Amino acid sequence: MSEEFPPKGAAMPRHVAIIMDGNGRWAKQRGMPRAYGHRQGVLALEPIIEACGEWGIEALTIFAFSTENWARPKEEIAALMGLIVEFFNKKIDELDKKGVCIRMLGDLRQVPELQRKTAEAAMARTAHNAGLKLNIALNYGSRQEIVRAARLLAQKCRQGEMRPEDIDENAFEDALYTRGLPPVDLLIRTSGEERLSNFLLYQCAYAEFLFVPEFWPDFTREVFARALATYFGRARRFGKV
Ligand code: IPE
Ligand code: IPE
Ligand code: MG
Repeated sequence: MSEEFPPKGAAMPRHVAIIMDGNGRWAKQRGMPRAYGHRQGVLALEPIIEACGEWGIEALTIFAFSTENWARPKEEIAALMGLIVEFFNKKIDELDKKGVCIRMLGDLRQVPELQRKTAEAAMARTAHNAGLKLNIALNYGSRQEIVRAARLLAQKCRQGEMRPEDIDENAFEDALYTRGLPPVDLLIRTSGEERLSNFLLYQCAYAEFLFVPEFWPDFTREVFARALATYFGRARRFGKV
C-alpha cells in the first residue's frame, strides 16, 4: 500500500488528531497487565509519527493522558507517566533530527516534576523545528482549556490590553493551547469507542470523525493509510451545497 499512497491529487488533512484508545483491552486479551498495553501503545506511535512526516501532514495531535485519567489506579498512572519520560528520553534525538516540533497541550503544572521538566525540555529543544507539528495532550481536558481561555481573555480585558468587543474567534483561538495550529480535519479514535472524551471540542468543530475497531497497539501504518483513504472519500461541505 505504501508505494501508491497517498494517491495522486488526494487532499491530505492538515491536522490529524488521534484518541489512542484500547491499550488496556489489548493487554487483557493477551492476559497481560494494562501497563503492557500502554508500552505497546508507545511503540505503535513511532510509525504513525513517521508516516505523518512522509505524507506531508502538517500537525498530529495525540491524546496521551486526560484530566479524567487521574481517576485510574495509582499504579496505572505511574506506569503511564513513566512511559512518557521514557518516550522522550528514547526518541527526542531522532524526533529533533527529523525536524519534529513538539508542543504539549494541557495543564503541566499538575503533572509530576520529572514528567513536566522532560516535556518542557523537549518543547524548548524542538521549538524552532519546521517539520511535523507533534502535539501531545497530557493532563488535557477540552473544557478546562476553554474555561482557561475565557479566563485569560477576561484578564486581558481587566488589564486594559483588549476590550470585550475585541474577543472574536481569532482572539479566542489564540488563547487555546492549540494557538496557531490549523483546525482539526480528521479525528480518529481507535478501539471502537465513539465519543470525544473531552478532547479538542472547539478544534473539532468541522472535523471528519473516524472510529476504527482496532485497539491502539494494533493501529499500524496500513490501518492509518486506510483511515486516510476513507477521509479522502468524504465530502466536506462546510455548510455549502
Ligand atoms: C488508552 O487506552 C490510553 C490511555 C487512556 C492513556 P486505555 O487505557 O483507555 O485502554 P482501554 O480503553 O481501557 O482498553
Ligand atoms: C481518552 O481515553 C483519553 C486518552 C486516550 C488519553 P479514555 O479511555 O480515558 O476515555 P473513556 O474513559 O473511555 O471515555
Ligand atoms: Mg480507554
